[in-house]
Amino acid sequence: MISSDQQQLQKQRVAEAALAWVSPDHVLGVGTGSTVNCFIDALGASGIRIEAAVSSSEATTKRLQSHGIHVRELNLAGTLDVYIDGADEFDAYRRLIKGGGGALTREKIIAGASRKFICIVDESKKVGVLGKFPVPIEVIPMARSYIARQLVVMGGQPELREGFITDNGNLILDVHNMDLVDPVATEKKINNLPGVVTCGLFAIRSADIVLMATASGVQEILGIGNQAI
Ligand code: 5RP
Repeated sequence: MISSDQQQLQKQRVAEAALAWVSPDHVLGVGTGSTVNCFIDALGASGIRIEAAVSSSEATTKRLQSHGIHVRELNLAGTLDVYIDGADEFDAYRRLIKGGGGALTREKIIAGASRKFICIVDESKKVGVLGKFPVPIEVIPMARSYIARQLVVMGGQPELREGFITDNGNLILDVHNMDLVDPVATEKKINNLPGVVTCGLFAIRSADIVLMATASGVQEILGIGNQAI
């Protein structure tokens, strides 16, 4: 267990390390969350003037613009070279749970539209098997109860994220105790339920590289077989 001060320091360190993946000719995909906020601030302070960013949330758009970074719509940007985002959990195969900040749908779209997805995390996010963190699922409001019942049948315990509306005008169900031994299969199964916009499992399109900050520096994790994890 790391202290919140240590965690904040690690977020800043990994955010700075991610700058090595950014070049001025990039239209860069940018995720959402406190680690990404450190990245946006580091990018703003770095003097690297990227062509534009594609943003995964209203909050990220505001922060990018506060640093004078131009935000472009994904539809006008084509395939992105690099997407930088955080995660709530990652495993040795760089599969993720995301959506703690509720921006999972736009994040998944941008991850899918990017050649390279670089996930930036502190060491508290590393797990053996995904699932300690509840799986966020964005749902169309009228389907909320139906989907919750289906999730119970699948063995999960869904909980409505009270008072939260996504940037797309939908609701979030946070699902506890899902069996995630095969996260690709579970991601497909959840995404197939009518009324699900998407779930926060990023197993089909996992990260290409996880940059993980530790007390002794930032590790680049390319996955089992490439790096020890
Ligand atoms: C937002 C996300 C974030 O990447 C995730 O919640 C991690 O956030 P933080 O960097 O604040 O720990 O998926 O939807």
